[in-house]
Amino acid sequence: GIKIVTIGGGSSYTPELIEGFIKRYDELPITELWLVDIEAGKEKLEIIGSLAKRMIQKAGVPIDVHLTLDRREALKDADFVTTQFRVGLLDARAKDERIPIKYGVIGQETNGPGGLFKGLRTIPVILEICKDIEELCPNAWLVNFTNPAGMVTEAVLRYSNLKKVVGLCNVPIGMKMGIASAMDVEPSRIHVDFAGLNHMVFGLNVYLDGVSILDSVIERMTDPNNEMTMKNISGLAWEPDFIRALGVIPCGYHRYYYKTSEMLAEEIEAAETVGTRAEVVQKLEHELFEIYKNPELDIKPPQLEKRGGAFYSDAACSLINSIYNDKHDIQPVNTRNNGAIASIPNDSAVEVNCVITKEGPIPIAVGDIPVAARGLVQQIKSFERVASEAAVTGDYQTALLAMTINPLVHSDKAAKQILDEMLAAHKEYLPQF
Ligand code: NAD
Ligand code: G6P
Ligand code: MN
Repeated sequence: GIKIVTIGGGSSYTPELIEGFIKRYDELPITELWLVDIEAGKEKLEIIGSLAKRMIQKAGVPIDVHLTLDRREALKDADFVTTQFRVGLLDARAKDERIPIKYGVIGQETNGPGGLFKGLRTIPVILEICKDIEELCPNAWLVNFTNPAGMVTEAVLRYSNLKKVVGLCNVPIGMKMGIASAMDVEPSRIHVDFAGLNHMVFGLNVYLDGVSILDSVIERMTDPNNEMTMKNISGLAWEPDFIRALGVIPCGYHRYYYKTSEMLAEEIEAAETVGTRAEVVQKLEHELFEIYKNPELDIKPPQLEKRGGAFYSDAACSLINSIYNDKHDIQPVNTRNNGAIASIPNDSAVEVNCVITKEGPIPIAVGDIPVAARGLVQQIKSFERVASEAAVTGDYQTALLAMTINPLVHSDKAAKQILDEMLAAHKEYLPQF
């Protein structure tokens, strides 16, 4: 049977993952599922573990659930390791989002200064996990969800010995589902040519039953009430002629770059009223765990849909299923570029459609990103590379360089102020500095 280890098992998203494994049990016979967390997440882990056991019992599948705070014990002989942890928890995310706005900069937990600091906190931990995998389960696949997923995948490719690593995000599948719903067709009839980076991915073309419908999807995008939004990102309307001129489908996160001033204004307004996204999610998480505690509950509750990670388990479980069963189907994942996108280095992580095989994802060449979007994609890749170097070395100047070249940061002076304040605020989780 298959042994899966999920690091950050106490995440409120875990019931999604359990549901995904249950649905696929016939093809993907998991015998052991180990949920790993840390002391600070012990209570969450126990609540999630009990719910997971009830869901599995109800479904009548023989998956053994183990809960542990001992990562190394869990990893022994694992086949797949999924990672979904948050170093410093949501309190750290709240700082990532609040500090930059004092300096007129969007924080954003994956794309802005927040993403830089989430990376600085996370990369040392993921590299330790990689070492444990090398030693305890060298044949396992690492499926990483931990954000910033693009930067984390880049760091693993560059600074660990692991070859079997895939980074995952729910944004592409979310875009595909949104397009299907906007076009009022079954998602299985839609194919999107995805290419770019994590949270910087474009739909270069869209097909319905093999025929391109790119132009009509672009027209639909110009409608302010289109269905292509995410729970965690404001759905501010796109300038119709800009989207038509761009000629490809942006993802929700592109709003931070193409509508920076409006997005900043929204973040400031939210911070002063309902709270930043981290603070909203803290309340939501509390409500979710109250629901999860109910001993009668034995399915994934619908309230989880208020989180931004919709379809995340579909992405994870389909990927694991296709690797395990050598399906050769096409899925968008974060992997080594290997020439798929001409303007990105071969050894860098990209988010691109891949053929998923037992040997891993084989990226499908797209040629290149349209010239108008190419520079931004390259800039974000430079940011991710410099940021991963800073995370590994703990070098102050490298961190300042990463902060300053992030497109959401508008001055070297502001970059230094934000960096200094955030380094102090996150000190506890940045042993390398
Ligand atoms: P969360 O705050 O609930 O954290 C999940 C668990 O990680 C917690 O129970 C926490 O105790 C645990 N944890 C913290 N440090 C750990 C460590 N060193 N080792 C093991 N466990 C540790 O977070 P969440 O909102 O459920 O999100 C989890 C992660 O997944 C985040 O990094 C988030 O950004 C990411 N995420 C990614 C996607 C994607 O598209 N890639 C989608 C959703 C969430
Ligand atoms: C989307 C992104 C994830 C991100 C999440 C945030 O799903 O793809 O990478 O973690 O949104 O959602 P939240 O509910 O935590 O704000
Ligand atoms: Mn994501």
